[in-house]
Amino acid sequence: MATLPDYNHTPLPYTGPSPEEVLEMRKHYVNPAIFHYYKKPIMIVEGKGQYLFDEKGRRYLDGFGGIVTVSVGHCHPEVVKAANTQNETIQHTTTIYLNPGVALYAKELAAKMPGDLKVCYFVNSGSEANDLAILMARAYTGNYDLIALRNAYHGGSPGTMALTSHHTWKFNVPHSFGVTHARMPDLYRGQYGPEDPDAGKKYAADIQETVQFCTSGRIAAFIAESIQGVGGSVVFPDGYLQHAYAHAREAGGLCIADEVQAGFGRTGTHFWGFETQGVMPDIVTMAKGIGNGCPLAAVVTTPEIARTLASRIHFNTFGGNPVSCAQGRAVLRVIDKEGLQKNSLEIGARLTAGFHRLAEKHPIIGDVRGKGLMLGIELVKDHATKEPAKEACAEVFERCKDLGLLIGKGGLWGNTLRIKPPMCIHQADADFMIAVIDEALSSL
Ligand SMILES: Cc1ncc(COP(=O)(O)O)c(C=O)c1O
Repeated sequence: MATLPDYNHTPLPYTGPSPEEVLEMRKHYVNPAIFHYYKKPIMIVEGKGQYLFDEKGRRYLDGFGGIVTVSVGHCHPEVVKAANTQNETIQHTTTIYLNPGVALYAKELAAKMPGDLKVCYFVNSGSEANDLAILMARAYTGNYDLIALRNAYHGGSPGTMALTSHHTWKFNVPHSFGVTHARMPDLYRGQYGPEDPDAGKKYAADIQETVQFCTSGRIAAFIAESIQGVGGSVVFPDGYLQHAYAHAREAGGLCIADEVQAGFGRTGTHFWGFETQGVMPDIVTMAKGIGNGCPLAAVVTTPEIARTLASRIHFNTFGGNPVSCAQGRAVLRVIDKEGLQKNSLEIGARLTAGFHRLAEKHPIIGDVRGKGLMLGIELVKDHATKEPAKEACAEVFERCKDLGLLIGKGGLWGNTLRIKPPMCIHQADADFMIAVIDEALSSL
C-alpha cells in the first residue's frame, strides 16, 4: 500500500462538534443544494502546505486545493502573516478613502499582465468577476450577444449561470438572454482529434458560424476558460483561441479569458493560461488561486475599455478590501519567491508521465490531459464508444480518499478525475498520487 511522504507537522487537538453533528447542522441550517464529496463525508479541520487533517488528526494529500483555490499551500506562513498584520491594523475602509493596499496590489498584479492589460477591478468571487466582465464588454461594444463554449463553467450568479454550459448547474428559470454556446474544442470527444493538425482552426470556425446563425451578427464578447476546469480539464488544441479570437473580433466582440482556475502559474509554462495559446485577451477574470483561500477576485482590462465603465459609478463594498489585498499581494510574492510556476511544470510533467503509464496498464483510462498542475484522467467503459465510466470513477475517487489522497471529479458525466493540487507539492507527493490512483484502479 502506498504511504504518504513524511511530514513534520502535528495538528492541533480538535475539540469541536463531531462530523455527524456538523452534517446534521448542515442538513438543517445550510443551503441544501450543496453536495459533499464521499459517501461518508470527511471533515477537514486543519491544513498545512499540501496536506489536510481531519478531526482525528489523519493526514491527507490535498490533490484538489479546495477546488483549485489553495494555490501556494494551506496556511502558508507568509500569507497568514500578511493577513494577520493587516487584520490588526485596519480591516475595512472601502475605496471612498485612500488606502495603500489596493493601489499597491493593483500595480503588482498589473505588472504580471502582458500588453495593455493594466487596469484592475477587485471583487469577491469568480462569478462577480465574470459578471463585471460581461457588463464591461456590453458597455464598451454597444453589442449584447455573448458567445461562450459548451462544457464551460463561469459561475452560478444569474448572469454567469447563463455562460455556464452544463445542465446540472443551470436552474429552470429564465436566463441566458443573449448567450449562445459554441462547440467545445475537445480533442478527445469532439469531431477533430489530436491527429488533426488543423483541429484548432476547425473547431474555431464554429465561432464564426455561431455569430452568423445565433446572434445579430455583432457580439459583445467571446468568453472561454483557458483550460475547462469543471468540465474535466479539457485542453484546447493549439491555435484554437487565436482563431476563435479572430472570429469574435471580426464580429465586433471583445475576448474575455477566464483564468479563475488556470491562472497564477498553474499551467507551468506560463503565468496565465491564455498565454499557452498565444493570445492577448481584452479582459481577464481571475479568482480562486489569486487569494489562496480568501474571498478575492479581479478583472483586469485595458485603460480604453475601463474608461467606458467610468460613465457611471461602479462600486463594490468589499472589492479591494485591505485584508484580501494583503493576502493577494503575499500570494504573488510567494509564487515568485518559491518558484511555484516552475514547480507546477516539473511536478505536472512527472504526474502526466505517471498517468500515461497508468493508462497503458488500466484500459478504463480513456484520456490523460492537462497542463502543469491542472490535470484530468477521463475514465470510459469502452475506448471505441467512449461511454463514460461514471460509477467506476466514483469508486476510484472513494478509494483514493481511503488511501489518503483527496482529488476532484468533473465533466458532464462525472467520469473525469481532476488533479489540481496546491502548487507547492513535491516529487514524493506526485509519486504517492500515482501509486494511490494505480491502487484504486486496480481494486475495481
Ligand atoms: C473557470 C471558473 N470561472 C468562474 C467560477 C466561479 O467562481 P466563484 O465560485 O468564485 O463564483 C469558477 C468556479 O468554479 C470557475 O471554475
